[in-house]
Amino acid sequence: MFTKAVVKRPCRNMVKGISRANLGKPDYFLAIKQHGQYVKALESCGLDVTVLEADEAFADSTFIEDTCLVTPSCAVITNPGAETRNGEIHKVRTSMEEFGLPMEEIQTPGTLDGGDVMMAGNHYYVGLSQRTNREGFEQLRSILKKYKMTASAIPLTTVLHLKTGISYLENNYLLAHGKFLTLPEFQKFSILPVDEQEAYAANCIWINDQVIWPKGFPKTKKMIKEKGFNIIEVDVSEFRKLDGGLSCLSLRF
Ligand code: GLY
Repeated sequence: MFTKAVVKRPCRNMVKGISRANLGKPDYFLAIKQHGQYVKALESCGLDVTVLEADEAFADSTFIEDTCLVTPSCAVITNPGAETRNGEIHKVRTSMEEFGLPMEEIQTPGTLDGGDVMMAGNHYYVGLSQRTNREGFEQLRSILKKYKMTASAIPLTTVLHLKTGISYLENNYLLAHGKFLTLPEFQKFSILPVDEQEAYAANCIWINDQVIWPKGFPKTKKMIKEKGFNIIEVDVSEFRKLDGGLSCLSLRF
């Protein structure tokens, strides 16, 4: 069960965020509206949501998930791999300290983006990506071990972050597309395959028996509904333009 979430409002400078999506510049005002609906969706899952103020110094800072991994036992401040994003961690650290969890951090030369970390029970899968290096993974693994949790590395080649391509939906269900469908590490899960045409839908979030779902992607949505999941749909088109998925927009714990 999750009880809390932390989000960070998009800033006007989001139009200058990192992007390789080729979908055009995001509309700031529409993004603000969509962000509000996202917060409502989290609240409707029973979460107490803390909304942090926008930070114009960091164009991508609304993608707060990359700056911190919150586990049931500790919060790990990451060391984001994109230079323009690295300084986002300072304000997030201050905000997360208020929750009273033991605080840990990834240190240079290790780099880690939270979007590369997928929790499945007590185990954490960590994508080795352009943002997360092996040193960052090893540091995270040592931190998690202290709290009796485990981690394994998944080298990535095609996607920005691990969770761009997969989402754990609890009860052993893993939503996945592309190369992830056949990875030996994931064959113990009941894999729900996502078509390449709907690849963006592979990033959604399970919260307390609800799935927050990106608007659109009817084929995958039908499959998920047929498995008995309750879906709350939100439009995140403006965040998609910056390569961001639903999970990137919040910390959930
Ligand atoms: N634009 C989000 C990211 O590249 O991290």
